[in-house]
Amino acid sequence: MARVYNFSAGPSCLPEEVLNECAAEMLDYNGTGQSVMEMSHRSKAYEPIIEDAEKMVRKLMNVPENYKVLFVQGGGSTQFAMVAENLGIKNKKAAYIETGVWAKKAAAEAKKLGIAVDVIASSKDKNYSYIPKVEKVTGDYDYVYICFNNTIMGTHYEYIPDTGNIPLVADISSCVLSEPLDVSKFGLLFAGAQKNLAPAGVTLVIVREDLIPEPEACLPGTPTMLAYKTHADNGSMYNTPPCYTIYVLDKVLHWIEKNGGAEGMLKRNQEKADYLYNFLDSSDFYHATTEKGSRSLMNVPFLTKYSTAETAAAGKKDEADRTDAEKTALAKEKEINDKFVKEAAAAGLVNLKGHRLVGGMRASIYNAMTLEGVKALVEFMKKFAAENK
Ligand SMILES: Cc1ncc(COP(=O)(O)O)c(C=O)c1O
Repeated sequence: MARVYNFSAGPSCLPEEVLNECAAEMLDYNGTGQSVMEMSHRSKAYEPIIEDAEKMVRKLMNVPENYKVLFVQGGGSTQFAMVAENLGIKNKKAAYIETGVWAKKAAAEAKKLGIAVDVIASSKDKNYSYIPKVEKVTGDYDYVYICFNNTIMGTHYEYIPDTGNIPLVADISSCVLSEPLDVSKFGLLFAGAQKNLAPAGVTLVIVREDLIPEPEACLPGTPTMLAYKTHADNGSMYNTPPCYTIYVLDKVLHWIEKNGGAEGMLKRNQEKADYLYNFLDSSDFYHATTEKGSRSLMNVPFLTKYSTAETAAAGKKDEADRTDAEKTALAKEKEINDKFVKEAAAAGLVNLKGHRLVGGMRASIYNAMTLEGVKALVEFMKKFAAENK
């Protein structure tokens, strides 16, 4: 079967060149007669891989000397707890900006660990379709937490909040290396790799050294594996790392470098996103759900003309409370969305179903997605609109 254009929110498409290289080295990596999947993480063949991955992160993200680059496991979801356990130790108080599911989950995890969470801004009033503007954060917070790119809602910060001396923590899972980012503005950055960097299984953490506490200074009961120090002191090899995922990550980082680094990715991503948003903004059949000025270059949710404010309101009611007109409108909306997703898949454009919290469709167009893929999607959307007016 021919390869499809994969618009999945994560795990996501990887550069074909990288997949081909992995395939070529599958049975014999670098003359070792073994696959990287099979070798000890402490072998002479493997150690240079993880070392190079760290070197490449430092180079491509311009990571200052006083930051550690760590590869850990447990995904972004484990970072929600780790951040609180390691950084929320002085005043046990933190500020969170609420921009959707992932920021809310992070705040909930901190609360569970006894952190006093202040939600200092929220875009809940408009179903998280924009990023609130927070000029300056002050207070006795141990850290300020933001989700820089909101994968489900399709929003992205176009500014970095000024938090003065309070460390700023950002979840960059769905935008890491999609654009240049000034690491020095942050105390800690983390990203699950399965969107822009690698297959699932590894999480990149970049943390300012002075923010890494001794394990015993973390919140009481913090397990060894959840102390950043454990990983920082052991070159991310305290326990067995996800070796193969890090090997692919290293290859993806070299692919990014070959394609212009973070600047090159931004140019490529801007071009793809402009192409799609311009089409959505000029269409009388589709519309983007996010506000201009907060739009993600990575995740683009969109609805059809059958999804209206009325259907959204009706969707929130209990089934029994809906009028007949609302039921008919909702059924039509579901029918058209299902048809879109099914026909798109048949045309080789897969994983376009939207998240249930937004509805409709979502195209995730991470670094590895090509402009050709986005153009193919827009051509399909035009045809579908003409056939279903
Ligand atoms: C922005 C963001 N943060 C965190 C997560 C959770 O990541 P994981 O599944 O790696 O725990 C996701 C998952 O999609 C995400 O999009």
